[in-house]
Parts: sequence; structure tokens; C-alpha cells
Amino acid sequence: MIGRLNHVAIAVPDLDAAAAQYRATLGAKVGPPKDEPAHGVTVVFIDLPNTKIELLYPLGDNSPITAFLAKNPSGGMHHICYEVDDIIAARDHLLSQGARVLGGGDPKIGAHGKPVLFLHPKDFQGCLIELEQA
Ligand code: CO
Repeated sequence: MIGRLNHVAIAVPDLDAAAAQYRATLGAKVGPPKDEPAHGVTVVFIDLPNTKIELLYPLGDNSPITAFLAKNPSGGMHHICYEVDDIIAARDHLLSQGARVLGGGDPKIGAHGKPVLFLHPKDFQGCLIELEQA
């Protein structure tokens, strides 16, 4: 069911410093910061030849990243995103397998303008999983 790895998201305490490090130290192609108010994050996209990295920084009062950074003050891997062909079919299959879909199970429009869902990390080896309809 899952296809390509779409991106790995890393929560960071200093977005400018993290972007500069990926650009200068790691030599990556780093985009400009982009506010995503619907998701409570500011994102920097990094293009790699085979996938993307997203640096996440809290935006607004109810950011899902705030608590994560409180627990991981130097930052850390926040989620991984797999592509699926049909997000509704994927959701229904996951629910039938007993997996928990966060936020009521209705897809939201993600940072790339495509429908996404998140799966409970406790059901997947402690890793928050995002599914994106590619
Ligand atoms: Co993501």
C-alpha cells in the first residue's frame, strides 16, 4: 500500500540556524521558510535527489511542534511521510487493521497542497507517520 518516502520532518529549535547548516555544512538545496498556519508550523523544504527533508518550527499558539520541542530541546525527527495512491482506501484499510488515525480520520490538505493523514505513533514503533496522496 505505501509507496515512496515523500519526506522526513525534523523539528528544530532555530529554523534559520538549521537551514544555514543544511545549506552550508551539508551542501543541500534549501528553500525559503514558508508559514503553514493551518498546521501551526513554519517549514523549510530541503530537496534531496531521492526525497525531501522538512525542517519544522512552531507557528502560533497551538503548534503541534511546541510540546515536541519542550521534550526534545535540541530538536529531533518528528515524522516520516509515505506516499499512497488513494488516501481514503488507505485510511479504511488501516482502520480495519486496528490502527488509529489522528484527528478524526478526515484527510487535511498538507504542506504540499495534497491530502494527508497522520497515524498514531504508538501503533507504529513510536514513529509518527504521515500519509500523503501523491
Ligand atoms: Co510532513
